Parts: sequence; C-alpha cells; structure tokens
Amino acid sequence: MRFLILWCLLAPAWAQIRSLPEMKLWVIETDSASYVIGVNDLGYLQHVYWGGKLLRPEDFAPARAARTFAFESRESMTNEEYPGWGGMRYYEPCLKATFDDGARDLVLKYVSHELRGETLAIHLKDINYDLFVDLVYRVWPAYGIMARHAVIRNQTKQAVVLESAQSAAWHLPQGSGYRLTHLAGRWAGETQLIREEIRPGKKVLESRRGNTSHQANPWFAIDGPERAGEEHGRVWFGALALSGNWKFVVEEMSNNQVRLTGGYNDFDFGYLLKPGETLATPAFYAGTTGAGFGDASRRMHRFQREQILPDRAAPKPRPVLYNSWEATTFKVDEAGQKTLAEKAAKIGVELFVMDDGWFGQRNDDHAGLGDWYVNTKKFPNGLKPLIDHVNKLGMKFGLWVEPEMVNPDSDLYRQHPDWAIHFPGRPRTEGRRQLILNLARDDVKEYIFGVLDKLLTENNIEFIKWDMNRHFTEPGWPSVPMAEQKRIWVKYPANVYEIFDRLRARHPKLEIEACSGGGGRIDLGILARVEQVWTSDNTEAFDRLRIQDGFSFAYTPKVMMAWVTDVPNMNGRSTSLKYRFLAAMQGSLGIGANLNHWQQADTDLAAQMIARYKKIRATVQQGRLYRLASPREGSLTANQYVSEDGRQAVLFAFLQAQQFQRLTPAIRLRGLQANALYRPETLDDKLVDKPRALSGSYLMNRGLDFRLVGDFDSTMIVLERID
Ligand code: GLA
Repeated sequence: MRFLILWCLLAPAWAQIRSLPEMKLWVIETDSASYVIGVNDLGYLQHVYWGGKLLRPEDFAPARAARTFAFESRESMTNEEYPGWGGMRYYEPCLKATFDDGARDLVLKYVSHELRGETLAIHLKDINYDLFVDLVYRVWPAYGIMARHAVIRNQTKQAVVLESAQSAAWHLPQGSGYRLTHLAGRWAGETQLIREEIRPGKKVLESRRGNTSHQANPWFAIDGPERAGEEHGRVWFGALALSGNWKFVVEEMSNNQVRLTGGYNDFDFGYLLKPGETLATPAFYAGTTGAGFGDASRRMHRFQREQILPDRAAPKPRPVLYNSWEATTFKVDEAGQKTLAEKAAKIGVELFVMDDGWFGQRNDDHAGLGDWYVNTKKFPNGLKPLIDHVNKLGMKFGLWVEPEMVNPDSDLYRQHPDWAIHFPGRPRTEGRRQLILNLARDDVKEYIFGVLDKLLTENNIEFIKWDMNRHFTEPGWPSVPMAEQKRIWVKYPANVYEIFDRLRARHPKLEIEACSGGGGRIDLGILARVEQVWTSDNTEAFDRLRIQDGFSFAYTPKVMMAWVTDVPNMNGRSTSLKYRFLAAMQGSLGIGANLNHWQQADTDLAAQMIARYKKIRATVQQGRLYRLASPREGSLTANQYVSEDGRQAVLFAFLQAQQFQRLTPAIRLRGLQANALYRPETLDDKLVDKPRALSGSYLMNRGLDFRLVGDFDSTMIVLERID
C-alpha cells in the first residue's frame, strides 16, 4: 500500500506536462483538462487533443498526418500546431517569412524539446534554413490555464523579414456548429459581449490602432453545438497579452476544423530579423472548462489576481478613489483640488487623484501634452502643498499623465518635432489635437522614463493614471533604415511596457491605472503592470451595466474601475445616486462626481455606501462572480459575488423598466453551501420577506423575491454565513 502511494506521488503520470516518448506525444494537464500534441509520421508537430481531462496514457494514439486528396492537401487537413506558410498550406499561418535570397517558403519540422516542470519548449526548424522556432508552453494546473508563445530565432547568415508572427493556433475538436463569444465596442461603449455562429470561412478580430483598442479586445470564448450556458457546458477560452496591434483569426476550414490563430497583427507587419536576432511573440493564455462561461470567467479572474497582476504574490484590496476629471475637467488649481479632497476624505475616499490640466500650458486639449512640469499659475508652489494636504487628510495622492503624447502646441514638440511618429513630407494627422511620440525610439523612451522618474522622485505620488488618448496614424520611423521601420509595431508596445516595469522597480510604492480614452488598453499584457484599468469614459450607470457585464467575461472585477458621477449623464439619462453607487460597487469603486454640487443628503448616502462597500470589497474584488441575470437579455440584471472563504455573498440587482405591473422574477443564488445558514442584511425595503436566516439550498433553489418597481430600480443584499 505504502509503495502504491509512493508510486502515485512519483509517477510521471502526475506531472503537469509529460512526454510519452514511445508515441512521440506531450500531454499538458490541468485540474480538469488535457492538451495533447505530438510529432506525426511526417515529422511535423501536430495538435492532437484539447478538452476534458483524459486519464489513461493508453487512450492516446500517436499523431498521424491526414490522408491526401487532390485539392485538400495533407498539410491543409492536418492540425499543425504552429504552421509556417509554405508547401500546400492555405489556411492562416503562424509564421510567414521572406528570406534574403527571395525564398518565401517556410516548412517547420520538429527538432528537439526540453521539458522542465511546468514549462515545455519544443524546437522546430525550417527544412532548409537555420530559422528556428521555440514553442514555449507553460501550465498553471490549479487554474486550468496554460500559456503559449513562440520565439523565432534567425540562425542563418541572411536577414529574414517576418511577415506574420503568431503566438499560437488553438484547435477545437473537429466538427462544426461552434459559437464564438467576443468583446466588441467603441469609445464610451467598450467590452460589449457578442455571440455568433462560426461558419466556414474566416472571422477576424483585430486592432490596427497601435494599442489594444476599444473596438475589439484580445479575448475569446468558444462553445460547441451543444451550447454552453453560464454554469454548464464546455467552453474554450483565451486572452492574448499584447497592448499593440493584435489579431485573432477564427477559421472554419473545409474539413470542419475550427481553429483560432492569434498574435501580432500581420497587417503592415514586416519584422526584420538580422542574423542572430530573435523575436518573441506575446503570451497567449487559454483554458477549457466543462462548467460554462461562468466557470471560464472565474478561472480567468483568479488567475489574473494570483498570477498576472503586480500584487499577485499577495493580492491586496483596491482603495476607494476620487478622480477630479468629471468635476473640474482642465480647470484644476490648488484651492479647488484641496476643497474637493476635504469633501472626498469626509465620505471615506482613500486615494485622491488629480486628473488632466495640472501641467504645462494645459487649459484645454489644445496644448501642453509633453510638458510634464507643473503649471505655476494653477499651482504657484508646485504640487507639494496639495499632496501634503491630501496626505494629512489620510489619503494617498495620485496624478494623471499621458506620457506617450505630445501636442504640437508644446515646448517638447517645438524642440523635437522629429520625435512624433510621422512620415517625412506627409500629413501628421492629429487626434484630440495631439500626436504620438515615437516610443519605439530608445532615445524618446529614455527621455519619457526620465521625466516620469523625476516627477515621482520629487513628489509623494503613489498612483498614476496613465492615459493614451489617440490611436496611430502615419506610422513612420524615419530615423532608422527603411527595412527596420515596420518594427515600430513590436518595439512601441515593448518600450511602453519597459517604462512601466522600470518605474515600478524604482518606485515600489507606485500603483498604476491604465487608461486609453476609457477602456482602450485592457489586456493581459498591461495587467501584468498595472493595478487597475479605466473601464470606460462612459460613467452612465445603466450603460455601465452592459460594459461591465462584457468586461467580467474576460477580466477580474478587481481591476475594473467604476466611478459614481453626476446626472444627467451620457444619453441624457438620470438614475438615483443609490443606483449609481450599486452599479459602481460591482468593481473597484471610485467617485467622480463634483462633490461641491452635492446636497447633504447625497453626501450622507455616499458616506454610507462607501462604508458598506468597504465591508464587501474583499468579496467583490477577490471573490467568485456569478452572473445571474444579464443586462443583454432582459430588464433584470443580477450579479452575485461570493467571498473566497464562502462566508459572505453579495447580490446586486437592477431593474431597467417595469411593465404591466409584473413582479420581479425570483433570483436564485449560486455558489453557496446547501446546508449552511445565511443571515441576510438588506440595504432597503426591496426584499419581500425578511427571515432572520435562510439556508443555502433555499437561496439556490427557491431564490429570493424582490419588489423592484418603476424604472431604474436597484437593490443589494449581503448574506453572511452563520457558523
Ligand atoms: C481620457 C480619460 C478620461 C480623462 C481625460 C482627460 O478621456 O479616459 O478619464 O482622464 O482623458 O483628458
């Protein structure tokens, strides 16, 4: 018996990645899934299986290349794990290259591999040239998540131009009837969930804007013909870690094979790889679950909190912040900000952030970007008096910056017009009256790092909101040889990341919010470098329910900044202050209202709601999210959060519009212990019956009745487990 236990502990079958050399297979395993690849009879690396966990190695068969038919080549019908563009391959390639001698044919074969614990590297090589690809796999079994990326090495003596460099191709089990779920949007309408059938042909999701974009987001989920729901059915999901031009191609091929290929966008791509150079593609994280979209999201949320975010080693709750933007726009000054700070401190704010307008000649969006020195008309004694005041009030101080940008009307641009991204002799298209500094240039990167480092060294700034308010145009880089200019698409986001990383290393107390005109830079690449993201410039609470719903599919509510602002807001809509608070309390809470306009009753309610939020924030930010009723599907929206230890559950419910005097449908909770008792704490009189305690089974099966009436009604209930 003892021997058996020892064998079980040591047996290779328990390793997270193992190789089965007799079958030339590798098996990557998580708590609930298996991912299998192998070298086929032709020497190509082939995808074999991705789905629920397979337990017996004997169940596997070696990879076999497909049979060949006249117009359906073997290569096209074989699921190559990382295909080059060459031979009879007509689908989306993972790698496309032009060699110096003119050859545009790349055929990658297996050479060798290295397996170390949770990391597997498989080395591929072109059949003629010494162009190598290292496919790197890493797995986090407890989260059900793995990551793939590729390192392309030019060991030839000639230059190679890479015209496409993808991180991964993900193959679904062969068949049709799949459905794609993705996030689309626009400025002030980000992360809207879209669902569509996958049909023969290609569907492209991408950004060509130099940044992640509001319009599409590098996250996907796919379910099969059986259709998954929130809590049932198989879902394959993934997200790419890149805040630059990215692309996903979802392709259903002629043999009913669905695959999703993603990485650097190949549009205008042309990465010159000199002899000896390498290019690493961004990490593409993915997983599969048999327990629906809800479980897929919860896995991603926990993975992001514990493996991606800067505080991953010891996750900390996010503070309640105040941001001045909607209150004072560019009209910031010492006295005005001090007054707001005093009011913010009184209602329980922990971090006071001064937004745009504090620097250079910044009185509106015409001027100032690039001149990161304090505007002495607004702050005659610098930032110190305000920061000291904020700190004395017991709050941290944060500041808005937009380091990648320059207004033509700025000292920086007058000194260095060549630093802006441009093509000589061509128009420099302005967006929000600004141009982009070419941060792909190392001298510009060093300058911006230096300016920010100085600002953070000279002032007690513990938080920055890093904005980016326009997308790329005329992406020229005239100061390097023409053959290297297209490297801008890779080098720009890499250098932006480097600035974040170096600032964080030099200022360990610093926390960062990523913003790009709202939610234009939300992805797993930036999340490794920032504590939170600005979800959207649209702070109108009802619209936010939709934006937040989509956001929650891919990203943890902990990083989702949500402010309570004034009404009427976008769409001319007004909702009650309570509704606005409850909408915002489902993520990381912030206040963005003009506190000078609030009546005493508003201030009192705000103080109460912030105090309540502090009691539930660990559950909201670090707990498990269950989407009970979606704002996409009806008048009712309901989201439930359960704390990590299961002792607290919080339910938020919103009614858009009551019609025909209909009663609110019973809301059935999830994720509780059936035989435990929970004590409900209500916020208002919306709960129909108020027993002192309810069992988990009652809450999950019978559910709760609320009386939500009229338009834009809302409520919240907290359930504490009675031990
Ligand atoms: C962007 C941001 C806003 C605000 C303004 C300031 O639009 O998304 O929150 O910071 O810039 O100009």
